[in-house]
Amino acid sequence: MRETQRDFELRTIVRGWRSQGERIALVPTMGNLHEGHLSLVDEARRRADRVVVSIFVNPLQFDRPDDLEAYPRTLDADRRALEQRGVHLLFTPEVDLLYPRGMDAVTKITVPGLSEMLEGAARPGHFTGVATVVCKLLNLVQPDDAVFGEKDYQQLLLVRRMVEDLHLPVGIHGVPVVRADSGLALSSRNNRLSEEELARAARLHAVLDKAAGLLADAAPTEAVEAAASERLEQQGFRVDYVAVRRAADLESAGAGDADLVILAAAWLDKVRLIDCVRVTRGV
Ligand code: PAF
Repeated sequence: MRETQRDFELRTIVRGWRSQGERIALVPTMGNLHEGHLSLVDEARRRADRVVVSIFVNPLQFDRPDDLEAYPRTLDADRRALEQRGVHLLFTPEVDLLYPRGMDAVTKITVPGLSEMLEGAARPGHFTGVATVVCKLLNLVQPDDAVFGEKDYQQLLLVRRMVEDLHLPVGIHGVPVVRADSGLALSSRNNRLSEEELARAARLHAVLDKAAGLLADAAPTEAVEAAASERLEQQGFRVDYVAVRRAADLESAGAGDADLVILAAAWLDKVRLIDCVRVTRGV
């Protein structure tokens, strides 16, 4: 596996592959990699001849300085995992490369609607940070394909919309959530949970699964949201939201919408967890 922090070196390597007619896939990450990220790498390898992974803890997408500070940096372990998984190039830019004039002065991308709802409402500025850095990474690498996790479902839709709106020539692919045996969605934030909290965190998925069952049996969306929130609060979560939305665009689900997603964000002590499940409702 090759590795670079420099844009011109990245471009030279990628241009070399492209001149051989090779297909290139990008997996953008913030590091602290787990099996969820590595499943994105596997998907990228299935789709392309060459896989580039970026590791960049993007300060522009953090709404709280303590969260940015606490974000685990595990580059040595990440490097080993990527090497074993057959990644061809690791790109680890410094903040100065992506934000040479600082974060206030950088041109930013905002996706209307999708940036402001749910995660965007709970974390102001977060999705502008995500869209901006993903656009930069896509422009730097110029891949044929880019792969994202469905766990961050809103992020996946936002990236798709940005790519469509800006006519970026790249295919965006989602990969299903990877879960522990307990049902807990793998996340870098799980490392911050105690043993007891880890066991309790798995209830998030159990509650969403139950909500999905009720929804599939035609229960009204508001009742499903309210019941799931209440169950989570009873289990010791502090709920930011539980929302039933249309899977295609995250707008409110009407009676005629069959393809739905239930999204939730909830705190266990100081750790904020998100999860989602897809539901097909008979209409
Ligand atoms: O999902 C993430 O890890 C980040 O939001 C991403 C897509 C790498 C952008 O910084």
